[in-house]
Amino acid sequence: MQTRRKFLGVSLIGSAAVLAPKNSFAISGGLKEAASGSPVVLSTWDFGKTANVGAWNVLATGGRALDAVEAGVKIPEADETNQTIGYGGLPDRDGYVTLDACIMDEHYNCGSVMCLQDIVHPISVARLVMEKTPHIILAGEGALQFALANGFKRKNLLTEKSKKDWKEWLKTSKYNPQINIENRLYDKKTDPMPGGPKNHDTIGMVAMDANGNISGACTTSGLAYKMHGRVGDSPVIGAGLYVDNEVGAASASGVGEEVIRIVGSHLVVELMRQGLKPEEACKKAVERIVQRGPERSKTIQVAFIALNKQGEVGGYSLQPGFSYSVRSNMIDQVIPAKSYYS
Ligand code: GLY
Repeated sequence: MQTRRKFLGVSLIGSAAVLAPKNSFAISGGLKEAASGSPVVLSTWDFGKTANVGAWNVLATGGRALDAVEAGVKIPEADETNQTIGYGGLPDRDGYVTLDACIMDEHYNCGSVMCLQDIVHPISVARLVMEKTPHIILAGEGALQFALANGFKRKNLLTEKSKKDWKEWLKTSKYNPQINIENRLYDKKTDPMPGGPKNHDTIGMVAMDANGNISGACTTSGLAYKMHGRVGDSPVIGAGLYVDNEVGAASASGVGEEVIRIVGSHLVVELMRQGLKPEEACKKAVERIVQRGPERSKTIQVAFIALNKQGEVGGYSLQPGFSYSVRSNMIDQVIPAKSYYS
């Protein structure tokens, strides 16, 4: 079943086809947002539009895609009203806000932090892991010590709002990671999960700069009320994010366990290598998730975004409700993704 999602709750600034110059735009399994070598950034969800502003400030002035994606995702990381990323993120079931993030550049360099606490910008720590250590991943206390040794300041990331929501959740302690599925699958009376079903997501961002180089970043506080120590897909290179400067880049949002199972972002990039357009590649990856767990797939959300070397972009999700944000010289737009289920 493949239907276009009913567009709810995101702003669409005009039609991309109207905004784009003739011959520079096509919808055929992916929007062509920029000619090869023209800067473009795309990110998950409607809040990606604000994050794209930070990235675009870098790209529009000739900056590197790596700097752009770091600057972009730092915006939701610092936004306490976003309860799924960075400061203000919902905690695990023991009340700890633990963050996962990774970053990857055009030279296959990558860095990642897992289960990092008390640091507002895990993406910048991930970048330092990439640039200043011989390693790719630092986790937990080791990641925190590394951050502090490099000048990051400690901050309590659990805001009053997230603490209140967590305490409310403790009354039932029901762990049910249905996320970002439209209300038809969420009955508040029988399934109370404050801040949960409509509110778990991740920012994944991929960008191409004026030199045609591609980078990506992905950062999250992960599933609300997860087990302490749980790590999702977001900091796992190949799962939450993958960049291959010859082909393109992809990132994921949604239930990380399902993304890891298929090494989702790497799969999307390999499908683009075989010639699929970004949206088609994202769709195939979503279909793989359905094949691997038909029953599981009905009650969870997973979404992918992708960018290819030609500057074409696309996204696709399991459930209706996913959108992605694109910024280029031609458009600045939130796009509702097609979904597998209607
Ligand atoms: N995709 C984010 C997570 O599962 O933690």
